[in-house]
Amino acid sequence: MLKEDSLKDKVIVITGGGTGLGKAMGKYFVELGANLVIASRKLDVLEETAKELSINDRNVLPVQCDVTDYAQVENLLKSTVEKFGKVDALVNNAAGNFISPTERLSHRAFDVIVNIVLKGTYNCTLAFGKNWIKEKQSATVLNIVTTYAWTGSAYVVPSAAAKAGVLALTRSLAVEWAKYGIRFNAIAPGPFPTKGAWDRLLPGDMKDKFDLAKKVPLKRVGEHQELANLAAYLVSDYSAYINGEVITIDGGEWLKGAGQFNMLEMVPDSMWDMIEQMVRKSKGS
Ligand code: HXC
Ligand code: NAP
Repeated sequence: MLKEDSLKDKVIVITGGGTGLGKAMGKYFVELGANLVIASRKLDVLEETAKELSINDRNVLPVQCDVTDYAQVENLLKSTVEKFGKVDALVNNAAGNFISPTERLSHRAFDVIVNIVLKGTYNCTLAFGKNWIKEKQSATVLNIVTTYAWTGSAYVVPSAAAKAGVLALTRSLAVEWAKYGIRFNAIAPGPFPTKGAWDRLLPGDMKDKFDLAKKVPLKRVGEHQELANLAAYLVSDYSAYINGEVITIDGGEWLKGAGQFNMLEMVPDSMWDMIEQMVRKSKGS
C-alpha cells in the first residue's frame, strides 16, 4: 500500500512479533525498509520468523522477552539499541486470551491475561518512553486492542478489562507525551484468523458452529495484509498528525452488533411491501 522505502531505516519493535498478526505486520515493515525487532517468550519461534522475514540475515533481531517482567523489557530495549542504535516505533501487540465463564476463573487465570495485555503494554511503554525522553528522540507507539475494549465482552472478561486499560493508556499518553514528540495510536481489529486466537477462542468445532464472518456486514474475516497496511501507515511519518486515535478495522462488525434495528437485515425483500403498508396505516393513529 505504501511507497517503497516508506519505513526505510526506521527501527520498529513488535512484541508478540513471532506469530499471527505481529508477524504479518513485521513482514510488511521489513518490506518497506524497516529494521525489525521481534520479542516474545518462545525464542525458537522468534528465530524461525526472523529467518523467514529478514533480508540478508541482518535486519530482523529476535529477542526473548516476557513482557510481564520489567527487567526483561529493559533488556529488550538494551538489545535493540545495541544492534540498531535507536528505536523509532514500539508496537504493543503481545496478548493472552481464552474463553471462559468468568466464575470458572481463578484469580491467577485473571492475572495471567491482565499481566500480558495491560502490564506488558505499560512495562514496554514505560521502559521505551523513558529512553526516548532521555535521548530527546521522537517516536511512535501503536497499541493493538480489540473492538470490545469499549463495548466489553462476555466470556473474555480479563481480556476486555485489560484492553480497555490499554485504550485508556493510549489516549492518556497521546496527550501527556506529545510534548516529547511521542505519538500514541491504537488499532482495534475485528476477526482476523490466527492460530493463537482461534485455538483459544473458537476451539474444536466451535470454528464451524460460530462462523465469525457471518457477524460482519462485509461477510468475511480480515486479511492479515489489510491490518499490516494500516499498521504501516500508523508507524510511518505519513500519519504524523494522527495522535490518540483508535482505528477500527472490522468490516463493520461491532456496529452491526450495536445498532438497535440491524436485525432487520433478516427481513426478506419480499416482505417490505407488506411492512410498509402496515406502517403507513398507522399514520395519524
Ligand atoms: C480457565 C485457564 C485456562 C482456561 C489457563 N487457565 N487456561 N483457566 N480456562 N482455558 C488458568 C490456569 O489454570 C492458571 O490458573 C492460569 O490460568 C495461568 O495458566 P498457565 O497455563 O500457567 O499460563 P501461561 O503458561 O502463562 O499461559 C498463558 C495463557 C496461554 C494466556 C493461558 O493461552 C498463552 O500463552 N497465550 C498466548 C497467546 C494467546 O493467548 N493468543 C491469543 C490472543 S487473541 P491456576 O489457578 O490453575 O494456577 C486475542 C484476540 C481477541 O487477544 C479478539 C478476537 C476476535
Ligand atoms: P497470537 O499469534 O497468539 O499472538 C500473541 C503473541 O503474544 C504471541 O506471539 C505470543 O508469543 C505473545 N505473547 C504472549 N504472552 C507474552 C508475554 N508474556 N511476553 C511476550 N510475548 C507474549 O495472536 P494474534 O491473533 O496474532 O494476536 C495479536 C494481537 O492482535 C493481540 O494483541 C490480540 O489481542 C489482537 N487481536 C487479534 C484479533 C484476531 O482476530 N486475531 C482480534 C482482535 C485483536 P509467545 O507465546 O512466544 O510469548
